[in-house]
Amino acid sequence: MDIEKAVKERRSIRMFKPEEVPREIIREILDEARWAPSWGNTQPWELYVVTGETLERFKKANRQKCMDGDVHSSEIPMPEVWPEILKKRYIGVGKSVLTSLSIAREDVNARNEYYGDMFNLFGAPCMILACLAKSLNIEYAMLDVGLIMQTICLLAHDKGLGTCMLAGSVRYPGLLRDMLPIPEDRFIVIGTAMGYPDWDSPVNKFERKRANLDEIATWVS
Ligand SMILES: Cc1cc2nc3c(=O)[nH]c(=O)nc-3n(C[C@H](O)[C@H](O)[C@H](O)COP(=O)(O)O)c2cc1C
Repeated sequence: MDIEKAVKERRSIRMFKPEEVPREIIREILDEARWAPSWGNTQPWELYVVTGETLERFKKANRQKCMDGDVHSSEIPMPEVWPEILKKRYIGVGKSVLTSLSIAREDVNARNEYYGDMFNLFGAPCMILACLAKSLNIEYAMLDVGLIMQTICLLAHDKGLGTCMLAGSVRYPGLLRDMLPIPEDRFIVIGTAMGYPDWDSPVNKFERKRANLDEIATWVS
C-alpha cells in the first residue's frame, strides 16, 4: 500500500470482530515497527502484547470499573481542560461517534453502554501496551512512544487490521499491574486495541475531520 493511502485511510476502529489476530502477523507488525525513529535511537518503548484469556479478563474488569464510575488514576496525567479550538475538535469527534451509533446526547444509559464498550477495548482481541522507564526524560520519550504507535497502526492497516489508540485502556493501571509483569519502575503509557474491523458498524465509517492546513502551518521564507 502506498504511504499516502495508508496515512489517509487509517482510522480509529471502534468495533472489532472477535477473530483472533494470528500471532505471526502481530509479530511481523512489531518487527517492522522497530524501524520507527526515536531520540538518539534510544528506542525507549517497552511493549506488551496482550491477548487471549488475560486480555478478556482485563477488558471485563476495565469495563466494570468504568460502569461503576471508579475514579481514574492514569500514570501519565491526562488533559482535563483544552484550549477552546481543541475542545471543539474533541467534542466534535465525540458527537460524530455517538451520532453514527444513533445515540442521543441525553440518552445517558446508551452513552454509558458505549463508554463501557470503549473500556472493553471495543471488543478487540489484542492490545499493544507501551510502557516507559520512570527514570527517563518522560516528555521526550512520550514522543518516541507516539512514533512507534502510529507506525504500528499504519502497518496494521496495511495488513487489513484495525487499531485504536485508547486512553481508556490505561485509566485503571492497577488492573494491568495485577495481570501483567510490568516492573514498578515503569510507567504505563498507552494501549492500542488491534483486531479485524467490523466494517458493517457505522462507527467505523463516519466522516472524520481535520483542521485546514492553514490553521496548523505557518510558512516562513
Ligand atoms: C493518545 C491517544 C488516545 C486516544 N484515546 C482514545 C480513547 O480513549 N477513546 C477513543 O474512542 N479514541 C481514542 N483515541 C482516538 C482518537 O479519538 C482519534 O485518533 C482521533 O479522533 C482522530 O481520528 P482517527 O484516528 O480516526 O483519524 C486516542 C488517540 C490517541 C492518539
